[in-house]
Amino acid sequence: MINIFKLSLSFLFLNIMTFAFADSEILGDQAYLMKKDKAIGISPILTPVKVIKELKNKTIIQIRGFRLENYPQMIVRDMKRGELYVETKDEESSNKSFKIIKKYEDDYGEVWHEVEGIFVIDSKKIAKKPKGLYLKAKKMYERTCSMCHHLPAPSSYTVNQWPQQIESMMEQVALDVPTKSFIIKYLQQNAADAN
Ligand code: HEC
Repeated sequence: MINIFKLSLSFLFLNIMTFAFADSEILGDQAYLMKKDKAIGISPILTPVKVIKELKNKTIIQIRGFRLENYPQMIVRDMKRGELYVETKDEESSNKSFKIIKKYEDDYGEVWHEVEGIFVIDSKKIAKKPKGLYLKAKKMYERTCSMCHHLPAPSSYTVNQWPQQIESMMEQVALDVPTKSFIIKYLQQNAADAN
């Protein structure tokens, strides 16, 4: 009896603690998500994360998102907006390291999981100056994409349309992987349906 009481009390306390210290941040660089010293996957630059605890060089973070039951490797913002939050090494890494909060079925009969996971990342990957980072993304987009035609407003396309638009430009402009990822995330977070 006492044990159960103590357990539920400490559980409550833990939850309150987590809540009280959880602070929304964004990644300033692509980050490896570590679980027991093994990388289970990566999160791209500009992904929102909740900081649970800062240790010396490591930070404990929580990531929440959605994944398809049939393709759990990709964790995205929600069922309508496929902004990439996490790409895991394989299905098992996703299924083992994310907890299912709720299941949904979309209009096509596909089953989605709302999930959350707690990971350790290198503290340097948390953006120190998020405003400066967004300004850098904006400038990079303007510089890279206004050479041949006028710059499309980020709101001209939806979150799910932008990656295809960028892919279709790859014959015209060669972007390295980090730049491409940075521009796609910037455009998705300012897309027609971003808010
Ligand atoms: C080297 C020249 C060049 C650069 C640089 C360039 N584009 Fe384009 N873009 C084109 C051309 C040519 C077209 C029209 C033909 C086409 O659709 O392929 C176009 C068309 C587009 C369209 C309209 C497609 C449609 O369906 O009407 C979008 C959106 C676009 N570009 C986005 C971008 C973005 C984002 C970047 C930066 C990553 C970029 N472009 C950089 C040459 C370029």
